[in-house]
Amino acid sequence: MITIHRVKDLRAAIRQQRTQGKRIGLVPTMGNLHAGHVSLVKQAKELCDYVVTSIFVNPLQFGANEDLDKYPRTLDADKEKLVAAGNHLLFTPEVSQLYPEGLERHTKVITPALSELHCGASRPGHFTGVTTVVSMLFNMVQPDVAIFGEKDFQQLAVIRKMTRDLYLPIVVESGSTLRETDGLAMSSRNGYLSAEQRQTAPLLYKLLQESAEQIENGDKDFAAISAEANNKLTQAGFVPDYFNIVNSDTLSPAVASDRDITILAAAYLGTTRLIDNISVHLG
Ligand code: PAJ
Repeated sequence: MITIHRVKDLRAAIRQQRTQGKRIGLVPTMGNLHAGHVSLVKQAKELCDYVVTSIFVNPLQFGANEDLDKYPRTLDADKEKLVAAGNHLLFTPEVSQLYPEGLERHTKVITPALSELHCGASRPGHFTGVTTVVSMLFNMVQPDVAIFGEKDFQQLAVIRKMTRDLYLPIVVESGSTLRETDGLAMSSRNGYLSAEQRQTAPLLYKLLQESAEQIENGDKDFAAISAEANNKLTQAGFVPDYFNIVNSDTLSPAVASDRDITILAAAYLGTTRLIDNISVHLG
């Protein structure tokens, strides 16, 4: 695996692969890699000949009072995992390289409406940070395929929309969510949890499963299902942010006739914000 820090060197390395006719895959990450990230790299290897993973803790997608400074940076361990997964190129630029004039003056890519719902409502500007950096990575790497996790369901939807709207010649693929044995979705933020919070955390997915089952059994009272889940989360010590039952394509509130439904949830345990989701396909 080669590690590259500068855009100029990245372009030269990719050009070399492309002239050999290689199909390029991109897996954007913020590092502190876990098995979920690694599964995306493996998927990219199946779809492509040459896999580029990026590690960049993108300051533009963090709010002023969020965890940018304490976000875990574990480059040496990450490199070992990428080598073991057979990743070909690691791109890990400095902030000053991607945002030379600072965050304020940098050109932004905005996906209106969709990026203002759910996580976007609680984290204003977050998805603008994501779409801006992802479009930069898309232009720097020019991959044939880019892979994102379903763990971040809204992020995936926002990136698909951006790619469609801007006619970017990139196929966006998704990978399923990898979980701990107790159901908790793997996340770099799980490391923030105390031992006690870690015991409580799997309830989020358990309630998603229970709610999905209710919907599969024909319950259409989405408001009541959400309210019940929020109550149970609160009783267990979470501070729920949202538990929204939505149309899987539009991410707007589900209606009784919808066949593809996703439940999107976000909740705090202490200062740690956990998100997860589950999809239901009605026959
Ligand atoms: P990060 O949180 O590091 O996630 C990188 C990719 O891994 C994303 O596509 C995410 O959905 C996926 N992922 C995270 N947890 C997963 C799990 N448990 N199972 C499977 N895939 C999982 O998402 C970001 O970084 C950033 O917003 C980024 C897209 C890199 C832009 O900065």
